[in-house]
Amino acid sequence: MMTEVYKVINDKIDSNDMRNAVEAIRNGGLVAFPTETVYGLGGDATNPLASKKIYEAKGRPSDNPLIVHIAYFSQLEDIVSEVPEAARALADKFWPGPLTMILNKNDKIPYETTGGLDTVAIRMPNHPVALQFLQDSMCMIAAPSANTSGRPSPTTAAHVYDDLNGKIDVILDGGPVGIGIESTIIDLSEDIPTILRPGYITQEMLAEVIGPVRMDPGLTSENVNVRPKAPGMRYRHYAPQAELTIIEGDNEAVVAKINELTREASEAGQKVGIISTQENKESYVGGEVICIGSKDDEEEIARHLYKVLRDFDDSDVDVIYSEGFQSAGIGGAIMNRLIKAAGHRIIEV
Ligand code: TXA
Ligand code: MG
Repeated sequence: MMTEVYKVINDKIDSNDMRNAVEAIRNGGLVAFPTETVYGLGGDATNPLASKKIYEAKGRPSDNPLIVHIAYFSQLEDIVSEVPEAARALADKFWPGPLTMILNKNDKIPYETTGGLDTVAIRMPNHPVALQFLQDSMCMIAAPSANTSGRPSPTTAAHVYDDLNGKIDVILDGGPVGIGIESTIIDLSEDIPTILRPGYITQEMLAEVIGPVRMDPGLTSENVNVRPKAPGMRYRHYAPQAELTIIEGDNEAVVAKINELTREASEAGQKVGIISTQENKESYVGGEVICIGSKDDEEEIARHLYKVLRDFDDSDVDVIYSEGFQSAGIGGAIMNRLIKAAGHRIIEV
C-alpha cells in the first residue's frame, strides 16, 4: 500500500487532501492524525474490519482496546449505556482535552474496537486538525497511538512514517504535538472513579471536579498478581532498544553516579547514552548526552521524552542512563512512562 503524507499548513487541511482522507476512513481505511498528546492511528470505530486493520498495522495484540475519538458530546451519549453525572462534569471541564473516560458501552461500538470488553474508552481531542477531521468525516474514530506496538508513541509525523509507512492510507502531518505523552485515562464504569493511566490531567485536577479519585493499584503494586486494569498498561511498553536505567536522588550524587556508570560501561566496550536535564548537560564526562529539557519545565520534558528515546534507538547505544524527574503534576506521568521504559531498573543514590 502507498501511504500518502499530507502536510497541514496552519492547522488547516487542504480541501483535496481532506476529501481523500475522509474517503479513506469512510471506506474502512486507516488515517494517522495529530492530537495534542501524541499522533493517533485512526479507523472508523463502528467498523470491525477497520479495527482489525489497526491491530494489524501496529502489530498490537487484539485484546488491547482502542480509544474512540469524538468531536461532540452527543456522540458519547450515542455509544454508552448510561451517562454518569461525573462524565458530564469532566467533559464540561476538560473536553476537548487530554482526558479519556471509560464507560459502559452499548452495541453501537463493536467488540473488535473494545478488545472484547463491555466498556469503551472515549476522548475528545483538543487539536484543530483532529477536530476538523472528526467533523468532516462524520465518523467516530478509533485511534491508538500511531506507533508500532512496543515502540515509543509518535510525537511527529516522521515518527509515524518510520513505523507505519506502507501499512496505512494517509498521514496528516500537523507538525510536532504539544503535550507529548498520552491522555490521562479515568475509569467511570465502576463505583470509585479510578485513574488507569496518568497523564497531563492529574489526580488532583480530577478530584476537584468529581470528588475522590483513586489510582489503579495495579500501576504501582510490587505484587505481580495485582495487574493494571488497562490492558495496555500491562505490556512492556515504550521500550527503547538499549537497556535503560534511571538514577534518582540528590542532583550531585546522580551526576556522579551516571559518570561512574558511564566510565565502567565504556571500559567494558559499551556505547553509552545519557538523558540529561539542561542544567546538568555540561557535567557529564563521556557518553552521548541528549538534553531532554529544563528541570523547572516538566512540560518541556514531557514533550521531548519519546523523541529522545527514539533518537537513542537510532544511534544504537547499548545502555542508557537517565536522570529521574520530579513526580509532581505531569511529572507523575513522565516517571510512569520512563519507569516502564526502564523495565523498573532504578538506582537510588
Ligand atoms: O492520548 C491518547 O490517549 C492517544 C491519542 C492518539 O488519543 N491514544 C492512545 O491510545 O494512547 P493507545 O491505544 O495507545 O492507549 C489506549 C489505552 C491502552 O492502555 C488500553 O489498554 C486502554 O487505553 N483502554 C482502552 N479502552 C479501555 C477499556 N475499555 N478499559 C480499560 N482500558 C482501556
Ligand atoms: Mg499506545
